[in-house]
Amino acid sequence: MKILVLNGPNINMLGIREPDIYGKESYDYLVEMLKKHADEKGAEISFYQSNHEGALVDAIQQAYFDKIDGIVFNPAAYTHTSVAIADALKAVGIPTVEVHISDVSAREDFRQISYIRDIAVKTISGRGLEGYKLALDYLTDGE
Ligand code: DQA
Repeated sequence: MKILVLNGPNINMLGIREPDIYGKESYDYLVEMLKKHADEKGAEISFYQSNHEGALVDAIQQAYFDKIDGIVFNPAAYTHTSVAIADALKAVGIPTVEVHISDVSAREDFRQISYIRDIAVKTISGRGLEGYKLALDYLTDGE
């Protein structure tokens, strides 16, 4: 099974940005943790992070041509704004789990909108970096 872990803007700043909200661990730590977890599951994993909306759309389209089976996706701030990213996910039809490190439901009003939620097969929010592991489990085992 081929899994793509896709992260949107400012996720490369994990460990530096608002550690009280997003934790003290870095993006590199997240990547290493998920590589290990994917190994244990026997899944093939790849990673992409971008601060640019169009680059994320390109990565979603590329996932189709690369025959990716599932996407673990934290669209970050684009969750709340991007019709283009939502359309790209609809276009490729790849099962996608939406992940948020923080509990967006308990935060500002503008974070209550998600253009991704209705397209995603599942949304995991407020579980910290562990949420990415849970998303991987869901895509590989359905739980
Ligand atoms: C986030 C929540 C978003 O509202 C925010 O813009 C992010 C990160 C999260 O992981 O909790 O950048 O997606």
